[in-house]
Amino acid sequence: MILGIETSCDDTGCALVDGGGRVLASAVSRQLAVHRPFGGVVPELASREHLSNWPTVSASAFAEAGLSLDDVEVVAATRGPGLVGSLLVGLSLGKALAYGLGRPFYAVHHLEGHLYSPFLTTTGEAAAPIPERFLGLVVSGGHTSLFEVEGSSLETIAETRDDAMGEVFDKVGKRLALPYPQGPLVDRLAEHGDAERFSLPLATMSDGSLDFSYSGLKSEALRVIERLEREGVASDLSALEDAEQDEAPRPILDLLASFRAAAVAQLVDRLDRYLEEKRPEMVAVSGGVAANRLLRRELAAWGDAKGIELRLVPLAYAGDNAAMIAHAALIRQRHGDSGDPLSGDEVEAASRIPI
Ligand code: KG4
Ligand code: ZN
Repeated sequence: MILGIETSCDDTGCALVDGGGRVLASAVSRQLAVHRPFGGVVPELASREHLSNWPTVSASAFAEAGLSLDDVEVVAATRGPGLVGSLLVGLSLGKALAYGLGRPFYAVHHLEGHLYSPFLTTTGEAAAPIPERFLGLVVSGGHTSLFEVEGSSLETIAETRDDAMGEVFDKVGKRLALPYPQGPLVDRLAEHGDAERFSLPLATMSDGSLDFSYSGLKSEALRVIERLEREGVASDLSALEDAEQDEAPRPILDLLASFRAAAVAQLVDRLDRYLEEKRPEMVAVSGGVAANRLLRRELAAWGDAKGIELRLVPLAYAGDNAAMIAHAALIRQRHGDSGDPLSGDEVEAASRIPI
């Protein structure tokens, strides 16, 4: 029975996952109301919120699973990357609990959590078996990365050279005065627009690398918004109610649809080019942006067209959560890793750490 703790950014997560990778409970408390007035996450506020949210979040996870602390056999907490103040809350708590309970402790890399999250189920069943080799695509607010996974070895084969995909969704949404987190709102608005209306650039690397780049697309989208404003189009969507999304100015909806299509097209382009060299058995797609509607449709269609098994993370585990952290610890254990020490450099919170 693994207790997972995730506090790398603004979501406070507590989960209980058993040795078969069954998620018995995964509670996440978001801090939307706290950060919303600032349009983004305020690190100092995030760490304080983790402290005050933890008792409620963990109580609800333990109650849902029908377990108590005595049942916990392994403790896993996110070590990084993320906001150091936020990470410290969950990581210190995890170490203290492991020490107090006399149980093994795993300091988990946040991306490793995302990477294996597509194998989790929402039905209380065991996690799906992880193939010996697969290609992992992690798309979040901080990362856009491709990993080749083979057994316990993991190689980063591409990452973003500038902004992450989720980050540009947030920035474009912020420019339109949408409330934080803007990514899901941009996605919903884009459903109402015509993606053919604006042609936005597809970044490719002159050195032939599969790396991603999203800052050019972001700048171009912002430039179009400015131009539309000069033409008299209202771009402040702050008063837009949920029910009236299709009443947003048509050019803005079209721009968001075109922007989203270009962002997803870059992922498809990299997968296509990967296929020119190698054929993965499976592509597993994860991270907060894997909740994007167009991304899910396009990548599923891509998998069908290419005859490659495409595993999309269940929506419940796309955003940050602790089930994926507990699960990553379980996978490390299956690979023969007996855990981390409770002190030392390798278990310190770190804002940037290689996977
Ligand atoms: O994985 P995650 O919860 O946190 C990080 O590790 O970054 O990802 C959060 C990111 C945010 O940028 C958020 O706007 C974006 O995922 N996101 C989306 C959607 N849902 C969440 N972006 C585009 N479309 C969505 N539906
Ligand atoms: Zn994440």
